[in-house]
Amino acid sequence: STTINIAVIAGDGIGREVTVQAQKALDAAIAFEDASIAYRDFTLGADHYLETGELLHDATLEAIAESDAILFGAVGGVPGDPRLESVSIERSLLLRLRFAFDQYVNLRPARIHPGIGSVLGRDARADFVIVREGTEGAYSGSGGLVRGGTAQAIATEVSVNTAFGVERVLRYAFDLARTRDKRLTVVHKNNVLVHSGALWAQVQADVSAEYPDVTVDYLHVDAATIHLVQHPERFDVIVTDNLFGDILTDLAGAITGGIGLAASGNINPDDRFPSMFEPVHGSAPDIAGKQLADPTAAILSAAMLLDHVGLPVAGQRIRAAVDLDIEHRQDVGIRSTDQIGDSIAARIASAS
Ligand code: NAD
Ligand code: IPM
Ligand code: MN
Repeated sequence: STTINIAVIAGDGIGREVTVQAQKALDAAIAFEDASIAYRDFTLGADHYLETGELLHDATLEAIAESDAILFGAVGGVPGDPRLESVSIERSLLLRLRFAFDQYVNLRPARIHPGIGSVLGRDARADFVIVREGTEGAYSGSGGLVRGGTAQAIATEVSVNTAFGVERVLRYAFDLARTRDKRLTVVHKNNVLVHSGALWAQVQADVSAEYPDVTVDYLHVDAATIHLVQHPERFDVIVTDNLFGDILTDLAGAITGGIGLAASGNINPDDRFPSMFEPVHGSAPDIAGKQLADPTAAILSAAMLLDHVGLPVAGQRIRAAVDLDIEHRQDVGIRSTDQIGDSIAARIASAS
């Protein structure tokens, strides 16, 4: 029997509330397998920084690197907290993990679940995956602020795109499309961002020649938002850069049942480093501590974790339980975070 070592970074706010629910689902699903899970908790995030001054020590990063996978909740303090003004927990912790573990594929599936409906209306259909580049683009941290605080201030935030980085994420998206409906949409803004846009277009042209069975099209990101709202069924796999992908995946969540359902994986496809699974949403300080958060996104992220560590049957067990739970949501009224987590865990446990 194998042991899956999972590093747990629950983080701040609702991150902590939803992560325990994801662990309940993992425990219920693993019980059917000839495998067990060993959790190691890492207390990190805005609250931890305020208490200890640690953002992410090298030694902590090395300890997390020992795990088979990371279960991440969400990080981020209360907006306007003056003590967090000069630090970015998001950069120093979350992005540091994504970059250090070379998680260049940020995989964010979006599906309208029959039964729950969508803000787009009763008949709307959607089942697509956004492959968001995870290590480059405007997130690179390149740039600076000169003459900050003066009327002459100049801020730059350079989007870094390498042929290596663009090619590997496009190849991943093509391969993924091959396992699905074989339709790939590349999203960028190459009419204006002409340098990075030309690089993306060149790599798209080169790589698509190797995938004649995959139908490829291209959309500018602004037009992509129109189609996502008006014709979400037209999408199968979308591949895009880090910043466009951030925005499109919140939109994708909103149109497929709400951000409380949107799961994600930060994947290191080479498996040289652990991959990290987290809901798309953040720490939601506006609802934290009130048991109002929907833990489904975290639970579905845990299912992606099981797929990734080679236990797709266990992952499917979680998804099936979530589908049933969602189907019955209208009948049960408003439930707390714990109640949703308990009911999904119970459905997993009672499935045969
Ligand atoms: P957010 O995703 O935390 O919240 C946006 C809105 O969605 C809020 O109204 C919130 O109440 C609601 N919401 C989010 N998750 C929900 C859930 N599971 N159930 C029900 N409602 C939910 O985004 P924000 O407000 O822009 O950011 C808050 C903090 O989280 C910031 O510090 C931000 O940097 C951080 N953040 C972290 C991550 C992460 O750790 N992966 C992701 C996004 C934002
Ligand atoms: C997300 C979040 C992060 C991102 C932030 C918190 C760094 O918004 O996971 O979507 O922009 O990638
Ligand atoms: Mn985001």
